[in-house]
Amino acid sequence: AMIGKGQYRHFMQKEIYEQPAVVGDTLHTFFNPLARSIQLPDFPFDLANISRLTIVGCGTASLAGMVAKYWLEQEARQLVEVDIASEFRYREAPLPDNGVSLFISQSGETIDTLAALRYAKEQGQKIISVVNVPESTIARESDMVLPTLAGPEIGVASTKAFTTQLTVLACLAIGIGRAKGTISPEREAELSSALTEIPSRITEILNTDEIIRKIAADVSEARDVLYLGRGNLYPMAMEGALKLKEISYIHAEGYAAGEMKHGPIALIDENVPVIACAPSGPMMEKTISNLQEVHARGGQIILFSDEEGVARAGDIAKHSVVLPRVDPFVAPILYALPIQLLAYHTAVLKGTDVDQPRNLAKSVTVE
Ligand code: G6P
Repeated sequence: AMIGKGQYRHFMQKEIYEQPAVVGDTLHTFFNPLARSIQLPDFPFDLANISRLTIVGCGTASLAGMVAKYWLEQEARQLVEVDIASEFRYREAPLPDNGVSLFISQSGETIDTLAALRYAKEQGQKIISVVNVPESTIARESDMVLPTLAGPEIGVASTKAFTTQLTVLACLAIGIGRAKGTISPEREAELSSALTEIPSRITEILNTDEIIRKIAADVSEARDVLYLGRGNLYPMAMEGALKLKEISYIHAEGYAAGEMKHGPIALIDENVPVIACAPSGPMMEKTISNLQEVHARGGQIILFSDEEGVARAGDIAKHSVVLPRVDPFVAPILYALPIQLLAYHTAVLKGTDVDQPRNLAKSVTVE
């Protein structure tokens, strides 16, 4: 059937707004309502005994993998490596006995990701894939498929496929943690309730649309934009930069906040917006001092944080977007939203072809 845009101006906008529903649907495939806990399907191998998990994807999918590394290390004490498929497929990396490789792909047809999968298989790795198209080649060649229920994604820049990938990966991290006994029942209950609240939190964040549209007016004037984050929001800084450059054609970089002093701080002046993904918490103080360095050099700070974080930053931020305060584990899923909305509105203001940006393809099936 033809898929329409409905009341929305672009597919990307429609897909952003579908996220409470599709993240909820995806979560439900893993949620056992009786036990009120995350329940993975049966795997054809032992989740408690993975020597190393190698996660591979391209573009936004590879950034979902980077977030998963933080989750799997912290909650499941799992050894994880993450790589982009175009490098991994030719690197001839040695892969360990009892290793599992995990491939993330919306389309399930990206040629580099498929080639990486075939290499890992040849090396005797068990193969898991997280795909949005269950009949895709990557799905067919996997030992275990964990589908995202994003539905068809038409906009070239990935939005709902990304947040549903994160949802699946969060459940996988919890499932591996449970199998290995690294998560206490109390922590598991906390994580389950943080996850089940995500759809309604996303709906709340969608109410910041108008505020973000106003901020986009500033961003659309910039030539360069820097995104900063720490911990599991460092990959989100990279995702923010990727989204912005894909659809608005503004040069952007995503950096770990603590690494800024080793290079990008040289770029800061009053013309460079610096977007910080910085929820309150133990790392916030560190990020605040990085932002003070930006402020001292005239950089225009746009802060995505919660009420406490925004209050803590005081007036060093030119603009702030107040997001709900959540367990740090789920923050990357929620911080995806302001990132998407900002890129979207900036692109609309610049008049680019939001759903079909120049030079990009939805699915890259040739090398
Ligand atoms: C293209 C798209 C991106 C996507 C990447 C990986 O570059 O423009 O939005 O993240 O491919 O695609 P996949 O289908 O493997 O997730």
